[in-house]
Amino acid sequence: MSETMTIQSHKGPYTVHFDPNALESLNANVPADAHFLVDAHVAELYADRMAKILAHRSVLQIDAKETNKSLERMPDYVAHLVDKGLRRDQRLIAIGGGIIQDITCFLSATMLRGVDWVFYPTTLLAQADSCIGSKSSINSGSAKNILGTFTPPREVHISTDFLGTLDERDVRSGIGEMLKVHVIDGPDSFDRIAGDYARILAEPEVMMGYIRRSLNIKKAYIERDEFDQGPRNVFNYGHSFGHAIEAATDFAIPHGIAVTIGMNMANYVAAKLEVGSEENYQRMQPVMRKNYAGFETHPVPLDAFMTALSRDKKNQGAGSVTLILADRSGKVSRDKYPMDDTLRGICRDYLETARAAA
Ligand SMILES: NC(=O)c1ccc[n+]([C@@H]2O[C@H](COP(=O)([O-])OP(=O)(O)OC[C@H]3O[C@@H](n4cnc5c(N)ncnc54)[C@H](O)[C@@H]3O)[C@@H](O)[C@H]2O)c1
Ligand SMILES: [Zn+2]
Repeated sequence: MSETMTIQSHKGPYTVHFDPNALESLNANVPADAHFLVDAHVAELYADRMAKILAHRSVLQIDAKETNKSLERMPDYVAHLVDKGLRRDQRLIAIGGGIIQDITCFLSATMLRGVDWVFYPTTLLAQADSCIGSKSSINSGSAKNILGTFTPPREVHISTDFLGTLDERDVRSGIGEMLKVHVIDGPDSFDRIAGDYARILAEPEVMMGYIRRSLNIKKAYIERDEFDQGPRNVFNYGHSFGHAIEAATDFAIPHGIAVTIGMNMANYVAAKLEVGSEENYQRMQPVMRKNYAGFETHPVPLDAFMTALSRDKKNQGAGSVTLILADRSGKVSRDKYPMDDTLRGICRDYLETARAAA
C-alpha cells in the first residue's frame, strides 16, 4: 500500500508517494502523453521491469555524468524533445538520481516557458533529500551548479526497491545528506541516526524510516522558505567545505561523501574558531568518519580548496566567507567569517592531519 507526504510549494501542493511497486505501476500504465528522461544505467539494470516504459515513443537515456548536466549539453535534450513534439499539456518524467533530476527539472522550467515534471528517484541521495525542495542546478564550463531554477515536481514516487542495486559509495553519499538533515534537526536527532548507522545499512525498514524522517525535517524548512532566502540556508551545512573538496579533487569524491567530510571539517573549524566546541566535534566525528571511510586520505590540494571556498555562491563581499557552523549547543546557523591566514591554517591542519587521524 502506498503512503504519501504532501509538500506545499509556490506552484501549489505536490505529493510524495512511498510505493515499493512504483516502477511496476508506471510500467503497467505508461502515460502516452509523457516524455521520459532515464538514467542509462538504471535502464540497463531494470530493463525487464521497465520494458514498456523503454519502448515508449519518447525516451531519452542519459549517462549520469556531471558533464551531461550542463548548459553545453542542453541543445541535444531540447532537440530531442522538440523532435518528439513536446507540448505544454504534456509532462516530463525523470527516472534516475540527482543528475537526471537536475536536467529534467531545468528543462521543465525553461521549455515552452514551463511544462510539468514527475520524479521517480533511484538513488538514496535523491530519495532522502533532493527530490523535494524545487531546486534545479546545471553546470556551465567549469562552474558547477551555476544555473538553476526553483521548479517543484508535480509528483514524486519513491520506491526503495531501487536502492538494492546502488554502489556502496552511492549509498554512503545519500547517508551523508541524511546525516546533514539530522544535524540541522538538533543533537538528539543526530545522535539517534548516528546510533542507528549500522542498522540503516543492514535493515531496509530502518533505512525507509530515516528516508521519511529526513524528508519530514526538510519539508518544514522548504515550506517556510522555498526560495532559500533565510531559514533554509542551514541546509548548506557541510556544503561550503564539501563543494570546495569536490572542486579541488575534480569530483573524484561522491557529493554526499564530500559533504560528510565537509560537515566534519565545519565542526573542526567551529571548534578552532571557538564558535562551536571540541566536544561537538568529537561527538559527531565517529559516524562522519565511518561514512567517509576510504576517502580520508584522498589528497585535497590546499590552494585549489581555498580558491573554491572563496568562490562559494553564499559569499557576500570580498575578504570574507559565509559558513554554516554548529554552535556549542549543536545549533546550526549561518555567519560571515574573515577569509584570512587563520582560516587557511585551520583548513590546512584539517585536510593534512585531522581528517585522517585515527
Ligand atoms: N537539485 C537538488 O536539489 C540537488 C540536491 C543535491 C544534489 N544534487 C545533484 O545531484 C547530483 C548527484 O546525484 P546522486 O547522488 O543522486 O547521483 P547521480 O544521479 O549522479 O547517480 C550516481 C550513480 O548512481 C547510478 N544509479 C542511479 N540509480 C541507480 C540504481 N538504482 N542502481 C544502481 N545505480 C544507480 C547512476 O547511474 C550514477 O552512476 C549532483 O549533480 C548534485 O549536484 C541536486
Ligand atoms: Zn548536497
